[in-house]
Amino acid sequence: MQATLDERGRLDFVLTLRRRWADVLYPALHSQFEQDGGHAADVRAAVHRQPLYPWFAFLERASQKMLWRDVSDVVAAYPGAQHGNSSGPATLKLDPNLPLPSWYTDWDIHVQPGGVWRNDASADVYELGAKLVMLGVNDDYTFHRAFTATAIPPRNYRCIVDLGCGFGKSTWPLKRAFPNAEVIGLDLAAPCLRMAYDRANAADLAICFMQADCQATGLPTGSVDLVTSTMLIHEMPRPALIATLREAARLLAPGGLLRFLDFTRTGDAFRDLAMAEHGERNNEPFMPGLLAANIPALCAEAGLINARWVAFDERGAGRLAEKAWPQRAEWHFPWAVLEAEKPQ
Ligand SMILES: C[S@@+](CC[C@H](N)C(=O)[O-])C[C@H]1O[C@@H](n2cnc3c(N)ncnc32)[C@H](O)[C@@H]1O
Repeated sequence: MQATLDERGRLDFVLTLRRRWADVLYPALHSQFEQDGGHAADVRAAVHRQPLYPWFAFLERASQKMLWRDVSDVVAAYPGAQHGNSSGPATLKLDPNLPLPSWYTDWDIHVQPGGVWRNDASADVYELGAKLVMLGVNDDYTFHRAFTATAIPPRNYRCIVDLGCGFGKSTWPLKRAFPNAEVIGLDLAAPCLRMAYDRANAADLAICFMQADCQATGLPTGSVDLVTSTMLIHEMPRPALIATLREAARLLAPGGLLRFLDFTRTGDAFRDLAMAEHGERNNEPFMPGLLAANIPALCAEAGLINARWVAFDERGAGRLAEKAWPQRAEWHFPWAVLEAEKPQ
């Protein structure tokens, strides 16, 4: 799209505002919290009484709203052709009768009006907005490529299923890395799947994009060697998360692998509170529940073994050793890979 200077100016402004929130305001609030005694028993109360806190919290939500408004305006100004009409090696299976759960449609996820599912423009808005949400550091999908390159053990996979594939940026690297595998990208959102399908055709990738709920995919039992997801499970309430883990365990063949890229507690009380509240302010109401839950225990209850979280560095290094995140002053997501496997 050939955006005007004014339009690019609006996008640059909101991106810079969010960067300063992350690299100036967040460390300043952290420093006030530390000087005030830091590790108080009630961390939430201790953070909330800091002078910078109201401004920090307001700006996080206000800049997110501003971002979607700016992105939506730019996308609306350049209506493109409807997605899903390309041809090539990819396939697209939509299910217009698929019920969308109310927890999915009731919230404007990430504060994006209408979420990622409402109409075709939702996918375009999400594609551009996600770049700004990631502060411009994932424009070339570095961290999605790093996930496949560092968190997926090289194996001769026959079938890979990417749950909650969105518009495909988590799925394309899987097909590139494992060209002989049947790769299925699955999502609730038809607009995203149409875009994913077009992008895969343009890149000559034979991926099957399918509209389904990852709690009950309809795929055959034991037919999958690797089940992945990126940024999916923090969007689900606990019953849906449990159902998804059970469905992943059902799909996996003996010895098959589960690799989910998402978020977990780091053990740093300030940072963990900031992340839980980020979820609250960002219309990700189930984020605090994910951070509080014992996900490896839920994997075990679902019939998976060796479940654990491993730290992940989104800047390119990808999967790290155990839960050892590098020290960084600026706000950043506590990325982590949930690893588990199906017993032989
Ligand atoms: C934050 S996006 C991540 C998309 C993609 N994995 C990526 O990394 O860019 C989460 C995706 O999960 C999808 N999703 C949420 N709940 C789902 C469910 N129950 N079944 C299938 N997809 C779901 C959403 O529609 C959305 O596209």
